[in-house]
Amino acid sequence: MRAFIYEKYGPPETLRMAEVDKPVPNADEVLVEVRAASVNAADWHVLRGKPLFSRATLGLLRPKHKILGVDIAGRVEAVGSGVTRFKPGDEVYANLLDHGYGGFAEYAAVPVDAMSLKPAELSFEEAAAVPMAAVTALQGLRHHGELQPTQQVLINGATGGVGSFAVQLAKASGAEVTGVTSTSNLELVRSLGADHVVDYTTTDFVAGGQRYDRILDTVGNRSVPDLRRALAHGGKAAVTGFTSMRRLLGVSLRGGKDIAQVQAHVTTADLELLSDLIAAGKLRPRIDRSYRFADIPAAITYLEQGHARAKVVVGVA
Ligand SMILES: NC(=O)c1ccc[n+]([C@@H]2O[C@H](COP(=O)([O-])OP(=O)(O)OC[C@H]3O[C@@H](n4cnc5c(N)ncnc54)[C@H](OP(=O)(O)O)[C@@H]3O)[C@@H](O)[C@H]2O)c1
Repeated sequence: MRAFIYEKYGPPETLRMAEVDKPVPNADEVLVEVRAASVNAADWHVLRGKPLFSRATLGLLRPKHKILGVDIAGRVEAVGSGVTRFKPGDEVYANLLDHGYGGFAEYAAVPVDAMSLKPAELSFEEAAAVPMAAVTALQGLRHHGELQPTQQVLINGATGGVGSFAVQLAKASGAEVTGVTSTSNLELVRSLGADHVVDYTTTDFVAGGQRYDRILDTVGNRSVPDLRRALAHGGKAAVTGFTSMRRLLGVSLRGGKDIAQVQAHVTTADLELLSDLIAAGKLRPRIDRSYRFADIPAAITYLEQGHARAKVVVGVA
């Protein structure tokens, strides 16, 4: 099969297309014929081996896993001996972040607890846009408990992969939602359902008078004192984004119980919950750009610039 492989850390040009063996699924895995993938910040972090401490798990000198890619949608081709929930022909979507990557390929072996049937309402490309970003938004928003309809919720980075799902999920819970983005994206945030928008190029959401019961910081560019200042009495924040070690350590060391760094882990249960919201018309992935399989390095280069408008996807068929 064709796959994009990398044998040393570096920029997207480090990736090259190669012929490799098809993976063989273990007993609790299925073999998926990948029809689409999406690109995530995790891909360029892992490609570059950054931040450096991540190499302790990714491989100290060179990458342990040669095929990148975490989000996929496709068709089940074969199932492992212990698999009863899926059968060949099923259309599925999945995330491989906790399972050794391998999505930028024509076939991937996927553990059954990181996948679900694909929502029928979505194309393969739309479905591939969902797992990493939407589950991160979901787990970030509910980290401090389920949202309540009376709450004021602020999403920092409302037009990114994670933010574009977070705005919709917060609205679906009935909360009053404020989205932070730049001038050219204000309309996009409104179209996602936000009640209020803040243009970060002209207005600092911390400096205004408004206070929030929940903040989801998908960018990770604010200090703990800033986030604390923007919270209402008893308010809580979850940070899913990463911009620097200083910010990451700041949240870990000074955030306390109310301001938490959240690392998402995709589960079948959460994918099924998202599928239900999609079927109910409450959630829909927005696609910024769609690339061909051969152009995966270009897709990663675009995402790495940090200004994607929702999701960047790749057609694999
Ligand atoms: N913790 C986890 O489990 C987890 C999972 C997924 C992702 N992440 C991390 O979360 C971060 C975001 O991921 P993503 O997929 O959403 O990235 P993304 O799609 O690349 O985010 C791009 C968006 O960020 C916005 N943005 C950039 N600077 C901003 C600022 N100063 N204020 C507000 N918005 C700003 C951009 O809007 P403009 O163009 O308007 O600037 C753009 O729409 C990354 O650091 C990623 O590593 C963490």
